[in-house]
Amino acid sequence: MEVLRSKRELADWIRSCGNSERTLVPTMGALHRGHTSLIALAREKTPENDVVATIFVNPTQFGPNEDFDSYPRQLEDDLHLCEEHGAAAVFAPSANEMYQADTSILIHESALSHRLCGASRPGHFDGVCTIVAKLFLMTQPSAAIFGEKDFQQLVVLRRLVRDLDFPIDIIPGPTVREGDGLAMSSRNAYLSAEERAQAPVIFRSLTRVAKEISEGIIKTPDAAIASLTEEIGDTPLARIDYLEIVDSRSLEAITSLENANPRLLAAVFFGKTRLIDNVGLPALID
Ligand code: PAJ
Repeated sequence: MEVLRSKRELADWIRSCGNSERTLVPTMGALHRGHTSLIALAREKTPENDVVATIFVNPTQFGPNEDFDSYPRQLEDDLHLCEEHGAAAVFAPSANEMYQADTSILIHESALSHRLCGASRPGHFDGVCTIVAKLFLMTQPSAAIFGEKDFQQLVVLRRLVRDLDFPIDIIPGPTVREGDGLAMSSRNAYLSAEERAQAPVIFRSLTRVAKEISEGIIKTPDAAIASLTEEIGDTPLARIDYLEIVDSRSLEAITSLENANPRLLAAVFFGKTRLIDNVGLPALID
């Protein structure tokens, strides 16, 4: 596996690959099974392509009071995981390599980003769009994989590809979970033992409500939100940021459950740690 630390090394490697195509898996490192599942999915869905994973903690998507400085960085472990799961190359640039000190152009998304996670993280999705567009231009992939765990990010990046005409297929990867249902996230490491014990309530109530909707027990979006609010709100260490049922394409709140493609989304604080999760409807329940 090639480890590429600069744009020049990346460009040279791409040139050396000739006509072969690439599937991109962008990450911020601190890799867990959620990330490695995306590398494995890239191998499965695009078997002819080289998989290029990127590891870069992108400063422009963090707010001033967010965890950019403390975000976990463990490059050596990450490189081993990428190699184990079949990446052909990892691009892991420094911040100086990716941004000029006087960088003055960012991509702005104006329809999907202001709500949900964007409401409490202003500028976040502009930072995500900017870095992903740069990674697209640098790695020139024919496909790119993003996790459904960050559902709003997936929808925003589909819009980026559509509106800026990137010739790239966006492939969604299903959310990988701990045994008790908690969605895997680098930020789970910030949870205290008590917070960790209570955090599975998010997925538990999302799947319960999705099931009750598909069984006709819950009949309106308002009733669904009320039911989620009650269960999650009753959890002592949980503080709700948002609970919403939205249309999967527009991310607008829906007023009827007849909507063809609704999605239940949750963002919940445990202490200072903000956890997000989502399920589709009808949810697959075993
Ligand atoms: P990061 O949080 O490192 O996530 C990298 C990719 O892994 C994203 O596509 C995310 O949705 C996916 N992912 C995270 N947890 C997952 C889980 N439990 N199951 C499945 N997939 C999971 O998202 C980012 O980085 C950044 O915003 C990035 C797109 C790299 C731009 O900087």
